[in-house]
Amino acid sequence: MKLSCLHFILTLCYVNAYKVLLFFPFPIRSMGILGEGFVKHLTDAGHEVTYVTSVVTKRDYGKNFRQIDVSKNFAMMGDDPMMNITVVMTAGIEMNDRKMLQEFAYISADQTFKYDNVRNFLEDTSEKFDVVIADLYETEVYAGLSVLYDCPMIWSYSMGAHWQVLRLIDERSNPSYTSDYLSGNIAPLSFQQRLQELWAQIEGSWSKSSHLQPKEEKLYEDIFRPLLNKRGRTLPDYQEVLYNSSFIFANEHHAFGTVPSIPLNFKLIGGLHIDSPIKPLPQDLQSLMDKSTNGVIYFSMGSTWQSKYIPKQVTEALLKTFSEFKQTVIWKYEAELANLPKNVHILKWAPQPSILAHPNCKIFISHGGQLSSTEAIHFGVATIGVPIFFDQFVNIKKAVNKGYAIKVPLTFNLAEDLKVAIETMLADPSYNLRAKELSAIYHDRPVSPAKELVHWVEHVVKTGGAMHLRSPSVYVKWYQKIYLDFVALVSAVVGLLAYILKALTSNLKKAKKVKKN
Ligand SMILES: *[C@@H]1O[C@H](CO)[C@@H](O)[C@H](O)[C@H]1NC(C)=O
Ligand SMILES: *[C@@H]1O[C@H](CO)[C@@H](O)[C@H](O)[C@H]1NC(C)=O
Repeated sequence: MKLSCLHFILTLCYVNAYKVLLFFPFPIRSMGILGEGFVKHLTDAGHEVTYVTSVVTKRDYGKNFRQIDVSKNFAMMGDDPMMNITVVMTAGIEMNDRKMLQEFAYISADQTFKYDNVRNFLEDTSEKFDVVIADLYETEVYAGLSVLYDCPMIWSYSMGAHWQVLRLIDERSNPSYTSDYLSGNIAPLSFQQRLQELWAQIEGSWSKSSHLQPKEEKLYEDIFRPLLNKRGRTLPDYQEVLYNSSFIFANEHHAFGTVPSIPLNFKLIGGLHIDSPIKPLPQDLQSLMDKSTNGVIYFSMGSTWQSKYIPKQVTEALLKTFSEFKQTVIWKYEAELANLPKNVHILKWAPQPSILAHPNCKIFISHGGQLSSTEAIHFGVATIGVPIFFDQFVNIKKAVNKGYAIKVPLTFNLAEDLKVAIETMLADPSYNLRAKELSAIYHDRPVSPAKELVHWVEHVVKTGGAMHLRSPSVYVKWYQKIYLDFVALVSAVVGLLAYILKALTSNLKKAKKVKKN
């Protein structure tokens, strides 16, 4: 007893190198950027990282790092046609079909488990891990990995505090003042918006529990039962495993706004993916930006949506519009482009953080993805948002609400609308001031997100799953939380009393009748 106590105290004081399994198979480029943030900071801290990813990294993270390539998952995204801006502009796509998104997440999990390299890896009984960290986008089936390796489960969520995620470790957030990432509402909510948010949670929960969860449960059993049997163990119940997570990291920060109250084992580590210090710009770009004393406008539609798919006539109109400004325009454009105006420079690949970090960068024209939005705040750059899909609408709405952004819709009128927005922003310094203010709030934290990540991962491992951080809420049934059992008891007692009273009075009446007769 004494020895094990001593051992525990010693493990708290000394950090060993831990074996970490990072599981990020969802095929989207930004997921790779986020996942690599985890890789970088955990390998820097001396841990041994195995990274299962769709976005294979070429960077060298040393001998403590290996990756398992599941980039075949990209095939399911249907490659270009789906992520084609022209298609969005002409035909439109379903922007917030949660079922479709859930289906994607499920299929990518299903496929990932079936690739030969992943199967061999999972079947290898010599593999051991101290902790599993998996992406939590719309599927929770990866919780099975922590069962397989008999270690704590940590999740990485690529967005902010969301009810579907919070429910795993505590309470769903209250829909009367928090909104779904697909709804585009921002608190304070109107009566109608409160109903919309309530409905979003009811419908979302329903589709999750009736449609997706049974499939996930079956996948969990199909994949993990044989693996556990091979290791001489039996598979625990999925529900039990699902609500047994130790920790969640979310890719957001309070500076962006409306964060609900969050549990102790939930940390916002937005900005984790941004290198510190920032990598220097390539020489040509550095001197171009240094020379641009009128300022630089940086334009990028992100890593998934590519500018080269913007319709030709819109591209030409954009070039004409840009040529009318005396600012330098740096446009992340993934193909050749003829007849460029003198002040427009295209880059097939752009070192975005390093560009935004340059003091001459005045305006960021962005699609408003979560990582780009974080970078805009990190470097304090005013934003013109052109959202296309998904959480981009709500991100841009938040940015507009916070006063550092202007929204421009993605239409064939893009060039004209952008011109007005750029003119407005150049004429009014408040957008950039506000961006700088929020940036100051964002940077004012006790430790960097990287330190926070490493600290909590080590804490979870050292304390055997950080049970002391768990909300008691996960052990209480939903009907107990809203005291339905009590209501049922009171109703039963009242009902019984009413029945007895009724029986008594009718007996009394009968007795009186008998007496009269
Ligand atoms: C994008 O979609 C448009 C309209 O359907 C089509 O004409 C164009 O070829 C597509 N481009 C690519 C690269 O898929
Ligand atoms: C729940 O998590 C803890 C801490 O990681 C672990 O010790 C326990 O075995 C887990 N229970 C199940 C059923 O997986």
